[in-house]
Amino acid sequence: MTPELLKGKKGIIFGALNSQSIAWKVAEQAHAAGAEFVLTNAPVAMRMGEINELAAKCGGAKVIPADATNVDDLKHLVQGAMDQFGGKIDFVLHSIGMSPNVRKNKHYTEVNYNWYQQTMDVSAISLHKTLAVCKDLDALNEWGSVVALTYIAAQRIFPDYNDMADAKSLLESITRSFGYHYGVAKKVRVNTISQSPTVTTAGSGVKGFDEFISYSEQMSPLGNADAESCANYCIAMFSDLTKYVTMQNLFHDGGFSNTGVTQQVIEKFKAE
Ligand SMILES: NC(=O)c1ccc[n+]([C@@H]2O[C@H](COP(=O)([O-])OP(=O)(O)OC[C@H]3O[C@@H](n4cnc5c(N)ncnc54)[C@H](O)[C@@H]3O)[C@@H](O)[C@H]2O)c1
Repeated sequence: MTPELLKGKKGIIFGALNSQSIAWKVAEQAHAAGAEFVLTNAPVAMRMGEINELAAKCGGAKVIPADATNVDDLKHLVQGAMDQFGGKIDFVLHSIGMSPNVRKNKHYTEVNYNWYQQTMDVSAISLHKTLAVCKDLDALNEWGSVVALTYIAAQRIFPDYNDMADAKSLLESITRSFGYHYGVAKKVRVNTISQSPTVTTAGSGVKGFDEFISYSEQMSPLGNADAESCANYCIAMFSDLTKYVTMQNLFHDGGFSNTGVTQQVIEKFKAE
């Protein structure tokens, strides 16, 4: 990590549940790049206290709990971050996903609609709420950068990804729409990074994940991108080196999204 890349930058990092979390790696890399940040997660996700270990590793980062579906929590978080830094912030990582239908093995064609709404609220609308609170409090500096993590099931069907696919489509749409308005008003950038399947708590919750991750590995010319590499891409997106990138869905997937088939996969269908 380039030590000075984020020097002087302040941020908020959502979603570091444990050391496997993509957000955890982003926090480690952001610290190594010289950034200061507040860590946040839903109060229930903090029970195990692992986030405090991360905070200590990252120069004593402040931890502010917030349920990302709750606008009052988000106001408290964003105001708390500004108070902590004595001014505005430069970057936000939205690394949040959860579907009760996936957790409870509900088939996509038979989803529970209350849970479906929860999936949308937690995994997509929370980005809108976060951006709206930041804009309302004028919390982000010009050229500030907001990154949310997504998955290619927003564009193509991966049956076991269930209603999370719909949530990711909405997340990417919010990125374009809010990215437009925030760009015009304050020159703030909003993008999604579409990451390869990665072994984390959220990732492993998807049925057939182990087989699927092997399939994806063999369908990607460079192989699956790991969480550390995803974190590196996030840091690049928070830096001034990507100032004119906004409203994009950026694939970080070893080439999976543009691959029709690979020789490795063809071999599996060769007649004995
Ligand atoms: N792991 C993968 O295969 C993969 C692939 C592509 C994209 N992603 C996305 O990356 C992001 C991070 O997931 P991860 O794989 O690091 O898993 P993770 O389980 O470590 O992170 C998900 C986080 O969402 C948080 N969260 C859930 N509900 C919340 C709420 N109401 N308020 C605030 N936070 C809440 C959880 O506490 C957790 O920290 C998610 O958006 C996920 O969909 C993951």
